[in-house]
Amino acid sequence: MPLHHSSVCLDPKLLVGTFQESLQDCRRQTLALVEGIRPEMLRTQSHPEFSPVGWHLGHIAYTESLWISEQLAKLPQQFGQYERLFAADGLPKSERQNLPDIEELLAYLKAVRSQTLSILQHDNKFENVRLWHWLIQHESQHAEIIAMVLAMHQVNKGSGLSPMAHPIAAVDDDMVCIELGSATVGSDAPNAIDNERPAHLVSTESYWLDRAPVTVRQYQAFIEAGGYREAKWWGEEGWQWLQSAQVEVPLYWPDGTLVDKAHWGNCPVCGVSWYEAEAYAKFVGKRLPTEAEWERAMALDNGCDRTSGSVWEWTDTWFAPYPGFESFPYEGYSQIYFDDEHRVLKGGSFATSKWVRRPSFRNWYHPHRREVFAGFRCAMS
Ligand code: AVJ
Ligand code: FE
Repeated sequence: MPLHHSSVCLDPKLLVGTFQESLQDCRRQTLALVEGIRPEMLRTQSHPEFSPVGWHLGHIAYTESLWISEQLAKLPQQFGQYERLFAADGLPKSERQNLPDIEELLAYLKAVRSQTLSILQHDNKFENVRLWHWLIQHESQHAEIIAMVLAMHQVNKGSGLSPMAHPIAAVDDDMVCIELGSATVGSDAPNAIDNERPAHLVSTESYWLDRAPVTVRQYQAFIEAGGYREAKWWGEEGWQWLQSAQVEVPLYWPDGTLVDKAHWGNCPVCGVSWYEAEAYAKFVGKRLPTEAEWERAMALDNGCDRTSGSVWEWTDTWFAPYPGFESFPYEGYSQIYFDDEHRVLKGGSFATSKWVRRPSFRNWYHPHRREVFAGFRCAMS
């Protein structure tokens, strides 16, 4: 069958092979996270804002079945019994704990996947390429959320285990200067998610940007200087948040007993809210970068790109559509979050798979969220 696309010539078999491999690769990573998981870890919420691990597994299968079997292949729904439980808009998060056991969840994933792979074998429509990319990235993101939920279980148990953010080279106080100019922000590549599109030029004034995310050692100076007790470092909203949150250190802060300090000092801070990032930046006389400043710096060959990727990095930018935005594959994916209440995070963490790791990728969370594997770097005008 010919490809129905005028300007792009792709070998359909080659594409199918690539997606098949990526889907299976991605699945292996998802399943590795839950290998040998105990039933209560599977079913219980580790945080009220996050669903249990088992729900994410079912939701991955449900989403795959919905978009591939039903929407793409136009097959009738096959696993209707799971719809209410695993649809994103089904039950409230607090009612997602009454879950099938792990064997049943794995069987559901497997049954949907075999259907998916047979549909992929016969799919040679170029217009579907975006959907296949989206599917892999959807699972990737839920896999990272599973890793977050598991990390929070550890925090709740007080077992002192913090996620292992990859240590970075010590580059204390090292900044790079980026001259006034413009750069492409976003992406039109087939793997680009709706909110990354369309790619467009953004100009920025000249600015300084930290070469690496703020480290545990650097952040410790803020804590020791009483940063969490002094309103002057905090934004108005941030100070209000701090009064109710009552925290004194980042969520994934090393407890100093299990791991050696030398190792941790060079690790990026992980598990801070946007407000904590904002406060630290003010404390050191800097500010958070905008998304465009961050993305522009990663495109330049200045060394910044080599230090991103072990924690997500908060930016000063509200999650909002680029000019010409169009929803894909549904409005609930990005559009409903364009509400001036979510901040953009860039880069990716140690738990982020390669399918969502690129300078144009946009993650988003409420500024008070600190369960994400997120740190930050600072900028200066
Ligand atoms: C981009 C991580 C905020 O978890 O709500 C998963 C990703 N969207 N299924 C989220 C997502 C739909 C999204 N984040
Ligand atoms: Fe989802």
